[in-house]
This record gives sequence, structure tokens and C-alpha cells, in this order.
Amino acid sequence: MNVGFFQTNPVFGKKTDNIQNAITEIRGLNADLVILPELFNTGYQFVSKEEAFSLAEQVPEGQTTQALIRLAEEKQVHIVAGLVEREGEYCYNSAVLVGPDGYIGCYRKLHLFSDEKLWFEPGNTGLKVYDIGQARIGIMVCFDWFFPEVARSLALKGADIICHPANLILPYCPHAMITRCIENRVFAITANRTGVERRSKDTLAFIGTSQIVGTKGEILYRASADQEESMVIEIDPNVACDKYITPVNHLFNDRRVEFD
Ligand code: ACM
Repeated sequence: MNVGFFQTNPVFGKKTDNIQNAITEIRGLNADLVILPELFNTGYQFVSKEEAFSLAEQVPEGQTTQALIRLAEEKQVHIVAGLVEREGEYCYNSAVLVGPDGYIGCYRKLHLFSDEKLWFEPGNTGLKVYDIGQARIGIMVCFDWFFPEVARSLALKGADIICHPANLILPYCPHAMITRCIENRVFAITANRTGVERRSKDTLAFIGTSQIVGTKGEILYRASADQEESMVIEIDPNVACDKYITPVNHLFNDRRVEFD
């Protein structure tokens, strides 16, 4: 299975351009699964709830999801991509999953980071695992990594690959995801962005270093800190089904949940 990411540097608010940039890049890839960053189509640093709402879209009817659906069909690829979702008067920091047969699902970020709490509602979709044929995939968004129970929950639900759209600012995540993979025996694909946003008093510098990590914590690929780039590699997602650490230690069966 060929899996990968596109590490972007979106221009804030230029949705059509950001979407087109992703379409052009993904058209050139030979992939079964591609992850795009969190909020890949809008940029990250909103200055008001009204602004977030004005850039938000209904899922799956909105411009971005519809464009990704067409691309997924054309390229016979599954795509996970972060965007601002609007439902009624509320906005969510969401990630959609689309595939060759169309729209599949949407995850709303559970753990909102910093000012995100001013624009978005905390997610309410729960953590789901999707069987996309070649693998079972789970989705979490950026800061969800800080809560190890998210990756554990996805792994317990059967995820082979954790798809992780991100807009990372803190430096720890690329290291932490190695641990998340070791402790759950899953693959993880973190699609981060690069660049700087300075739309309010805070300057946000995004750390790039998107990565694909194997089930034993191997860094299969790590991107640069500051370049827009894509990468696709071949993995065997079935490796994630083996939860034996030693012949007598099973990652899930050895848990002592009665003492939690
Ligand atoms: C983040 O959750 N975007 C840091």
C-alpha cells in the first residue's frame, strides 16, 4: 500500500488557491492514501469566530470536500484533509475522509489547542475506524496527539494507520508520535504545514517535519522543517495486526484495565 502526505504552506484565506495547490500535487503522486494538514485549505490563525465561520464549509456539500471527492475518484486514492466545518451556527476543526467512491466520513477534533477554543466547538463525532480496503484507518487532528488515549482508542478499535492532519507549533509531536506508534503497534502519518502566520499579536511558526512512522517507531520518512513537499512510501499495513511484543506479551491482552 502506498501512503503519504503533502506538507503545505497555505496562504491564509485563499481557499481556492490552497485547494488547487493540493490537487496539483496529489495528481502527481502514485498513492493509495494521502494525508493533508489540518485546516489545509484556509490557514490556521483566525482572528474571530465570524472569520472562521466565513471560511467554514458544510461537509460534504462544501467546495473543499467536493473538490477532494472529484480528485479521489480521478486518482483512485483515499484522502484525509483538515478543514473548518460549519454545522448550523457552530464551527468544528474537522478532517474529512474521501475515497474513489466518494465521501466516507468526518472527524471533529476532540482536543482544541489554545485560541482554537475561541472559534471552534470541541469535537463530538467520536473516534472511528474506517476500513478502506487495504487498511483500517483512524483519524486524529494535531493536538489530539497530546492525549495518548486518542491513539490507544483508535488502535483498540482496530486502526492499522493513524492519519494525523496537523498544524504543529510545539516541537514535541514528531518525537511523541514515535512512542504512540510503539505503544500501539500502528503506523502514523502526520501531515504538518510550514510557514509563519502573524495575523494577531501572536506569531505562529509551524514546524514542518511531517512524518511517516512504522509500528516499531521507525521513522520511515521525516520531511524538512520549512519546505512544501510530498512523500509517498510503500508499507504493509498488516504488520500492525501483530500485537505480540514477545511471544508471551500481547499489547492489548496484557493491559491491567481493572487497575485504571
Ligand atoms: C494544534 O493543535 N494545531 C497545535
